[in-house]
Amino acid sequence: MLQEKANQVYEQAKAAIMAANDTKTLYAAKVQFLGKQGQLSSLMKEMVQLPKEERPEFGKLVNEKKKSLESQYELRENELKRQELETQIANEKLDMSLPGPQFNRGQKHPITHVIEEITDILSRLGYSVQSGPLIEKDWFNFEALNIPPDHPARDEQDTFYIDHNHVLRTHTSPVQIHTMQKEKPPFRAIAPGPVFRCDSDVSHSPNFHQIEALLIDKTVSMADLKGTIAYFVREFFGSEIKTRFRPSFFPFTEPSAEVDCSCPICKGKGCRMCKGSGWIEIGGSGLVNPKVLEQVNIDPSEWQGFAFGFGVERMAIIKYGISDIRLFSDNDIRFLSQF
Ligand code: DAH
Repeated sequence: MLQEKANQVYEQAKAAIMAANDTKTLYAAKVQFLGKQGQLSSLMKEMVQLPKEERPEFGKLVNEKKKSLESQYELRENELKRQELETQIANEKLDMSLPGPQFNRGQKHPITHVIEEITDILSRLGYSVQSGPLIEKDWFNFEALNIPPDHPARDEQDTFYIDHNHVLRTHTSPVQIHTMQKEKPPFRAIAPGPVFRCDSDVSHSPNFHQIEALLIDKTVSMADLKGTIAYFVREFFGSEIKTRFRPSFFPFTEPSAEVDCSCPICKGKGCRMCKGSGWIEIGGSGLVNPKVLEQVNIDPSEWQGFAFGFGVERMAIIKYGISDIRLFSDNDIRFLSQF
């Protein structure tokens, strides 16, 4: 019977409305039962099968069921919408205790860091910071430093020539000349900066950094030089690193000495880093050769001086125990961010 069928459809629709767990499923149920092509509409169409006198009552019945279903739908819809809003709010909740987004912060290159530290130590001893050009006249890089044209010392520093009269400076020592031309003695100056040599392996890089120091005064001795360097090395590396002076030769100093530090990796026992000797060379030093003073019109009978020039990468390698000098210029962020 059609009335019975109407009851069945009603019960199914009611169950579907109650069972819907989200608004989407609920809406699908609405379309299935209450929609234009839905099951209640089909019932209305089937009404023609009934005798005429029964039709109004059947129509009323179906309409009542429809109204009832519509209000059930509305109730369920409100309920589900509220639930959905609540879960959405719960999921979107701001947790004020969460850390903010991480930004990658830049930092100083380890070489800059080491230069600043060295500068800081020597500034405390009264040294001012000086600088000079990276492209030097041959005269500043060599001749004024008592390295004449055919001197073998020129071959030792594999030089990048710009033209026959200009070079990429092979050391920071030419800044000694610029400073002596500029300053009136007595004075103390340091000059950190890049230098260039045509050379590359684990312990040599074509561009690296040096820090030059120059002191000019009335009476200056090797004892002053040794005392200054020993103090500086202790301040920079800590008291466990020892210093040693080896007699050497540089055309611009007389006498000259090379400065070694005890190897921080093997603690002086001998390893690959120090080539088994237990010591690592950090640079050269000496008393300023009177011939250099003459070049810049400083009277050697009145003034004396000491100078030293250290490799900055060398010092960083010793301080941080790094095995390959080329890491400093490879720009690998994993290496750089360790400092
Ligand atoms: N300029 C030298 C070099 O690069 C190092 C050096 C030696 C610097 C002795 C000095 C010095 O100031 O006195 O090999």
